[in-house]
Amino acid sequence: MFVDLRDRTGLVQVSFDPRSAGADAMAVAERLSAESVVLVEGAVVARPEDGRNPDLASGDVEVRGTSIRVVGPAVTPAIPVARGKGEKLAAEELRLKYRVLDLRRPELQENLVLRHRLMQRARATMSAMGFLEIETPILTKPTPEGARDYLVPSRVHRGEFYALPQSPQIYKQLLMMAGMDRYFQIARCFRDEDLRADRQPEFSQLDVEMSFIEQDDVLHAIEQVLVAIWDAGGVMIRAPFLRMPYRDAMERFGVDKPDLRYALEIRDLTPHVGDDAAPFVRDAVSAGGRVRGLVVDAAADASRKELDALTAAAKESGAGGLIWARRTEAGWEGQGVKAIGPSALERLGAQAGTLLLAAVGPDRATSAALHAVRSLVVRRPGITPITDHAFCWIVDFPLFEPDAATGARVFAHHPFTSPHPEDFAHLESDPDRCRALHYDAVYNGNELGSGSIRITDPEVQQTVFRLLGIPAEEQQRRFGFLLDALASGAPPHGGFALGFDRMTMLLAGAPSLRDVIAFPKTTAARALFEGAPVPVSPADLADLHLSVT
Ligand code: AMO
Repeated sequence: MFVDLRDRTGLVQVSFDPRSAGADAMAVAERLSAESVVLVEGAVVARPEDGRNPDLASGDVEVRGTSIRVVGPAVTPAIPVARGKGEKLAAEELRLKYRVLDLRRPELQENLVLRHRLMQRARATMSAMGFLEIETPILTKPTPEGARDYLVPSRVHRGEFYALPQSPQIYKQLLMMAGMDRYFQIARCFRDEDLRADRQPEFSQLDVEMSFIEQDDVLHAIEQVLVAIWDAGGVMIRAPFLRMPYRDAMERFGVDKPDLRYALEIRDLTPHVGDDAAPFVRDAVSAGGRVRGLVVDAAADASRKELDALTAAAKESGAGGLIWARRTEAGWEGQGVKAIGPSALERLGAQAGTLLLAAVGPDRATSAALHAVRSLVVRRPGITPITDHAFCWIVDFPLFEPDAATGARVFAHHPFTSPHPEDFAHLESDPDRCRALHYDAVYNGNELGSGSIRITDPEVQQTVFRLLGIPAEEQQRRFGFLLDALASGAPPHGGFALGFDRMTMLLAGAPSLRDVIAFPKTTAARALFEGAPVPVSPADLADLHLSVT
């Protein structure tokens, strides 16, 4: 009888032989159901040469069992428990419902082990740099980070609510005012927002704040911790990282989190456009738009199907369409010849084999479209990355941005971010042109985290609140405690928060945050295993002075 025995460290084969194991052990082994918990005694022995299994880490040995006891019998598992990588899995919804079984899968176990390693290294590194780990409350007052709050009704105070923190932002600033100098926390954050593969309603941040520093100091400290975390994940990276102003990132890559593994950049073709361009292109340019494009080497072989997919991506991102032209030995061909005009194409000076992919219109549309197109084009087989691990800082973000739905002015990061000193003079007269001391860390096209230098002057803080349309009375009600603390002597301070789940996901090479969180929520914000959220009884609601309408 052979039994596969598995624990966190791997799998080993146990053999029961009636000559050495005895009748009791043979009987138990024969009736054993899959996934049962057993205690086995036996001797570890080398397998005979022809019985070795090179696919198994323990494949050179086996346990020759002498006794076996079932301590935790298992009913037939609701989903198959894959034993190795690459095995076919049950549908994700089922796996989340039977999470305990799915977590027995080696891949998920490895992810949680990795998460533990990264967390321990992050803690040790922060501590070695003189940061103190301080916990902040979970039952709090709302902290604006741009999402909706999860609210918790108070039983004791009728009609009053706590909010779960969207981040410890205000508390970590208060700690600086309290003189704690250097703080960190692996903080749980809660955000009621539209979920995607890289977002969960509750998630963890490596949250950091420092006093008596400038932007450079924060970037330097975060670089050190990222180098340490990547090292714990088995990847050696080098700091300092490239720094790129937000404006350059948008101009060159069409996005504020460029994937710098690839050299391909957006080019401005507007100066090349002449009278032979199509009227729709000339009109767009005279209306203040631009013609921007990607000039892709050795991609003229792109099929019709591929061009259609690229066009669809550009349209989904808000462009009217995608202009394309390919350079053959005979010259340029494709709809782009008519659109942009032969003279503009000739001025590109491109060699045969080049594919031009361009969009025309306001930067907002061309940036989004060309970013989408670039993300697809770099996956072409002919395109090789310059590196596998491309980190960069995006700096000098705008202080405010228009709300995507209403167009109203909203904060780009959060309302505590300091305006850029060079733009301070026009904070009041032209706030939307004001840059902020706000920076993001980007890795292979993913935002790992963001941070800023904070406002420390209560008057500036009030000005920013006012520019966000928050009247004085509401400022006091919502943020009076912060304004008072700022007025009680605030050191210059700033900080950063790294998305811990996101980092782990990227280092694990996992497709979703759900693969690196023990008990994650679905994209519909449900916990399928335990079944949450749930309705509560009328009596419980009454205790909380609530009724459901
Ligand atoms: P921000 O809101 O940019 O900054 O969050 C920092 C990082 O947290 C991660 N993150 C998420 N991860 C999983 N699920 C989510 N729903 C989610 N939302 C954010 C991202 C993000 O880059 N208080 C500021 C930081 C500061 O200014 O110091 C803040 O929270 O990786």
